[in-house]
Amino acid sequence: METLNASGVGNPINRVEGRLKVMGMAKYASEFPVENKVYAQGINSTIAKGEIVSVDTSEAEKLDGVLAVITYKNAEKLNSFDEEMPQLSTTTIAPVLQSPKINYYGEYVGVVIAETFEQAQYAARLVKFEYKKDPDPTIHFDESQAKAYKPSGNPDYSRGDMAAGMAEADETLDATYNTPLEHHHPMELHAIIASWENGKVTAYASQQMVENATIAISDTFQIPKKDVRVIAAYVGGGFGSKLNVERHATLAVMASKMVNRPVQVTVTRHQMFTNTGMRQHNEQRMQIGAKRDGTLTALSHETLSHTSTYQEYQEPCGMISKMLYDVPNNQIKYRLIPMNFQTPFAMRAPGEATGSFALESAMDEMAWKLKMDPVEFRIKNDTQIDLSTDRPFSSRLLKECLRIGADKFGWENRNMEPRSKQEGNWLIGYGVSAASRRAPYRETSARVILEMEKGQVHATVQMDATDIGTGSYTIIAQTAAEYLGIPVEQVTVELGDSNFPVTPGSGGSWGAASYCNGARAACENAISELKRNRNIAEDEEVAVADLLRQNKLARFEAEGTAAPSEEFKNHSVFSFGANFSEVWVDKDTGMYRIKRMVNVGSAGKIINPKTAYGQIIGGLTMGAGMVIAEQTKVEPNFGNFITRSFADYHVPVNLDMANIDVIFLPEEDKIANKMGVKGIGELGITSVAASIANAIFNATGKRMRDLPITPEKLV
Ligand code: MOS
Repeated sequence: METLNASGVGNPINRVEGRLKVMGMAKYASEFPVENKVYAQGINSTIAKGEIVSVDTSEAEKLDGVLAVITYKNAEKLNSFDEEMPQLSTTTIAPVLQSPKINYYGEYVGVVIAETFEQAQYAARLVKFEYKKDPDPTIHFDESQAKAYKPSGNPDYSRGDMAAGMAEADETLDATYNTPLEHHHPMELHAIIASWENGKVTAYASQQMVENATIAISDTFQIPKKDVRVIAAYVGGGFGSKLNVERHATLAVMASKMVNRPVQVTVTRHQMFTNTGMRQHNEQRMQIGAKRDGTLTALSHETLSHTSTYQEYQEPCGMISKMLYDVPNNQIKYRLIPMNFQTPFAMRAPGEATGSFALESAMDEMAWKLKMDPVEFRIKNDTQIDLSTDRPFSSRLLKECLRIGADKFGWENRNMEPRSKQEGNWLIGYGVSAASRRAPYRETSARVILEMEKGQVHATVQMDATDIGTGSYTIIAQTAAEYLGIPVEQVTVELGDSNFPVTPGSGGSWGAASYCNGARAACENAISELKRNRNIAEDEEVAVADLLRQNKLARFEAEGTAAPSEEFKNHSVFSFGANFSEVWVDKDTGMYRIKRMVNVGSAGKIINPKTAYGQIIGGLTMGAGMVIAEQTKVEPNFGNFITRSFADYHVPVNLDMANIDVIFLPEEDKIANKMGVKGIGELGITSVAASIANAIFNATGKRMRDLPITPEKLV
């Protein structure tokens, strides 16, 4: 693609909304100055399973400023699930306070609405619940395996003959990997200000997908979708936790309807553990068979996870084990234990982040058994065909990522033998992992408004897309600048409003490809129409300002929609990458440092290298979090989470990350979409855990199969 100007596609410009953000002028959900608003505070259950036998709201109701207390006794009847264990999706209804039944510790049992936030918080503590406790909640993963069932969401899969593949192998591996409960914890707390007026809802809400939020709210309250307006102008991170509408949103709408005032609910950091999704505990058993020369003969990936007792969700951990390597005999299985916790939901690269820890650790274990270089072992089993669908990859530069990464990293200085590189008390290890992540692309619409201002064209692009901190505003502005042939300073992007044209929202790494192609389609339509009106040939180059002048228009508006092509559907579309890491482990204490990482990505056309770099660094940091610290712990008697704040849920800080070299291979994947763009939001996280665990093995000779790898495990 030829770049017309210095601010168009491919340039590392600063974020167009950066100034608003650093000035505190970008408004997040709870910051909208909605007149007359009141505050609601959710109340959480203090048992894991059972039911409410009595509620006493009298003390709370007596307090100054308290407008109402809602529990299951006086809550309005909402739409509820009509099937057993429905699958949690991004449009699922979110009924709340519908019965005295308690499904997990921390479930909402009530809500207090008051004039001020402080009054609501205080009053919430005065509402008294008595419970009849079920003595046997399912809160122990290891002891509950007999309850596991076959989920309907991710069917089992196989090709070839797994047993025969294992039988013909020279070396076999059978190993199990554990990843713990993790929480998303975006910086911006989940929040909503909802107003119910004459059967219509307006909501300023921190959501990743505006269209889906309107659907979920309209379905929950059984009102027409057109009567729900959702505004999510700025979103302070989501990582999957804001893909769907959580129950606090329902509490806000329900409360607004009752007190006839706009109601704000801001979920507390404590509540973010129990009321806004999480990544479930996964136990992944990997079996691999290989010939002496490194040819894979068999690969099996069995995942045991858990869901809630009322909804089904399963991360597709085995997805990459179906397609990443050229192996004829392959089997993928999923089992789920219904447990007394909230329903887990998609967390950054759901499936790949955890699945690739298991797969890429197992590949490293097998390479070591074969005494083969782990880079060469992966390259030997590379494939250009996705064997799980028999479709070719739209583009796959995994081999190149591995080779270029190895070169930049200095992989030739690695000793295959563990514990063979030392400096003083430090054991030094090198590790590698492949990265892969689906690169979806979805139908996306946009509107562009062209206006003549002082002899210049100003363009406004409107879409219901969100910017969850990723750079959507910036790359959409660059796309419009590119396709209209104007500087980015002459483009304004307006996002996050359900009144704007529909997009798939931010999730699943489809944002960049979808948003940019949608904006492109609108700009191309605008230009074409302006040319057609004046009988100008399509291929004739005319500046957009001249087109408006020739049309005698001061303002012109066009819409466009981009959607996946047949070619897209006939291919397997993924982003790929490779991560190399150097880790230093203290011999005596087990403390370790991630000294440096080289990360190579192949993700199609990079619209903005600066925001793309931010996405990869963010993904790598979150991946490092998986390895070094992140885990939510369950109290073994009561079933509550004892990890309840950032004081005990640890995430990496700058000092943990050291030097990261991020490289993108120059690429345009024209099969993926017209602009050649693929997603990068989740690619980074998919390679880190295994890369570091493999480096730790190389440093110490200790194979770490359970995350997080805390220092005491290394001594
Ligand atoms: Mo993502 S886990 O689809 O925000």
